[in-house]
Amino acid sequence: MAINENRFVADLHKLREFGASGVGKGVIRPAYSEADIAARTWLANRMADAGLTPHFDPVGNLFGLADGPSLLMGSHSDSQPEGGWLDGALGVIAALEIARSSDQPVSVVSFQDEEGRFGVTTGSAIWSGGLPLDQADELTDHTGIPFATARGAMGDLTEGFVDPTRFTGFIEMHIEQGPTLDTQKEQIGVVTDIVGIRDMVVQFEGQQNHAGTTPMHLRRDAFQALSAFNTRLNDRFRNVVTPQTVWTIGHVDLHPNASSIVPGRVRFSVQWRDGDADRLARMEEIIRVTAAEIAAEMGMGLSYGPMLGLEPVAMDPSLRAALEHGAEQVASGKWRRMPSGALHDATNVSRLMPVAMLFVPSINGISHDFAEDTAESDLIAGLHVLDHAVQRLQPKP
Ligand code: GLV
Ligand code: MN
Ligand code: MN
Repeated sequence: MAINENRFVADLHKLREFGASGVGKGVIRPAYSEADIAARTWLANRMADAGLTPHFDPVGNLFGLADGPSLLMGSHSDSQPEGGWLDGALGVIAALEIARSSDQPVSVVSFQDEEGRFGVTTGSAIWSGGLPLDQADELTDHTGIPFATARGAMGDLTEGFVDPTRFTGFIEMHIEQGPTLDTQKEQIGVVTDIVGIRDMVVQFEGQQNHAGTTPMHLRRDAFQALSAFNTRLNDRFRNVVTPQTVWTIGHVDLHPNASSIVPGRVRFSVQWRDGDADRLARMEEIIRVTAAEIAAEMGMGLSYGPMLGLEPVAMDPSLRAALEHGAEQVASGKWRRMPSGALHDATNVSRLMPVAMLFVPSINGISHDFAEDTAESDLIAGLHVLDHAVQRLQPKP
């Protein structure tokens, strides 16, 4: 059966209705939110309509299982707190369309909490054995809700974890989430490697006090500590980073966050990414030394949350070759091989089986924002590349 472009586009738009932000095509569908759970229930029904057997594992990863050995395809359907409509959703709906139309058995997956409300690609990290469930249960989101409590919102999940040996490989289609393809006016990226990441929470504890009466030289101001830490860190990183290295302080919780109070405590995320695990380790050392120096100089208590991370991984050569062949058929002269600076469930799944990834462009390179979008013609081109690749991977009689 041929792939049905209209059905694919219609399902993508249907999924967007769950948690629609009302701003552009954006969505608010963080892991285990009402919108996320409703979207997963709808997806499970779509999987059943496609002849797949829906299976929720104990953390809410949703599989649509084909009978017998099969190729696994998919991504995630949770979103960032302010997310785009395609981040993750594209890979899930494209997988569904391929499963519906392919002669070869294809299973579909939507992993849970890829966007890291609790960790880093939490659902696939647990399924792949990279993160033990009892450790995951202790993780909390930025409001203090434990993972164990949040996953309880999905009800009584009595089915176990899916046996990964039933799958022959994993292919994930995704938006690029960066500027390369859009700038170069190309349609397809075949991923070579995915960068590694480290992520942890740092806390400075000073002294909360009156903002009018506390002399400057007596203050132990947590915001000033964060500000000094950030400036010194940027300066020190210059000696070890490359133009591809990135680091972000993306979440800051300043206490009590009031105009007339010297802030007594700040808790903030520090995240850094690079393709070289040694560089990630050197950066960690710099972060810890710099934070300790600032704490000593400014009279701050210092503590750290758990260190989370994923190693850099390379894609499987034979699955990748099938995608490259498809890219050449569909977008000759308009595709490239490229590394991924974003994280993906494919990193975790690579512990279990061969994996490969395909990108389509992000307009203006924008993602993790309601404004994220991709031209419909590029979404459809990506679907055709997947279709070619899956046909090529079909076992020969
Ligand atoms: C996942 O979206 C990431 O943070 O790269
Ligand atoms: Mn994603
Ligand atoms: Mn994302």
